[in-house]
Amino acid sequence: METKQALVTGATSGIGLEISKNLAERGFSLVLTARKREPLEALSKTLRETYGVRVEYCKGDLEDPKTPQVLYDFCQQRGFTITLLVNNAGYSLATPFHETPMDAEERFLRVLSLAVIALTKLFLKDMIKAKQGNIMMISSVAAFAPPSSIQTLYGPVKTFVNRFSEGLNLNYNSMGIKSTAVCPGYTITNFHTASGVQEQMDRVPAFMKKSASRVAKEAVAATLQGKKVCVPTKTFKLIVFLLKVLPHSLFPLFSKRLAPGRYNHE
Ligand SMILES: NC(=O)c1ccc[n+]([C@@H]2O[C@H](COP(=O)([O-])OP(=O)(O)OC[C@H]3O[C@@H](n4cnc5c(N)ncnc54)[C@H](OP(=O)(O)O)[C@@H]3O)[C@@H](O)[C@H]2O)c1
Repeated sequence: METKQALVTGATSGIGLEISKNLAERGFSLVLTARKREPLEALSKTLRETYGVRVEYCKGDLEDPKTPQVLYDFCQQRGFTITLLVNNAGYSLATPFHETPMDAEERFLRVLSLAVIALTKLFLKDMIKAKQGNIMMISSVAAFAPPSSIQTLYGPVKTFVNRFSEGLNLNYNSMGIKSTAVCPGYTITNFHTASGVQEQMDRVPAFMKKSASRVAKEAVAATLQGKKVCVPTKTFKLIVFLLKVLPHSLFPLFSKRLAPGRYNHE
């Protein structure tokens, strides 16, 4: 049996794409998933040809409650025993909370939390049997930040992801399973365009915007070392430290410059 096999959600763009490349370079066999077929097919081909690893893909929308089981069955049928589950797919909602239809909130919560729970539940059982496994949860610096004036539910959901990851570590470390909550800050990907907040991202100072490849490199290294939390880049390590120790009443002093539009009603 091959020992290094990973499933990556949201593999076709940004952080997930770079994680997939990094894992292929390390010799992982991969199952890639996202909603659009063409980018999945193209990436699978590139990774196979570049790194000589086994790469298959399964198209799926994580807004659909059936998708996690479809992905698990796909892995079973193709003979993959997943040793690393990467829960990465995500987006945000930019419309004000009171204007966002409830069904849009439900679909958002399904992708960022219920699908993460469902996939973890499905793949964890095989990891328990194998007495080893890693789970990477792509969370966010938003998990440590004060509530944002845009994206009302994004921070709370990422806080949940961190706490869920902690709970997995508490209950399953003794069975050889480790979960890593990766908390990136601003990363240059399609996320801000897809989420309708590109205008805010454009106003963020350049030194705060990190490349997806750098974030992925630190995320994969920390996960394979079994670290519980990973905040990629020194800039965001410092910011998370300050978010933990400074009184929240001081945040407006620097948030207007560092995170324009997010914490101020302008
Ligand atoms: N970029 C940042 O500044 C930043 C900072 C902190 C945390 N994060 C987190 O990082 C993760 C990855 O985001 P990213 O920045 O790399 O964004 P991205 O470039 O927009 O990539 C998102 C990926 O998720 C897939 N996806 C989106 N909705 C999906 C759905 N309903 N079902 C299945 N797949 C779906 C997309 O492919 P398809 O469109 O084909 O489905 C794409 O592959 C997210 O969890 C995000 O919250 C991002």
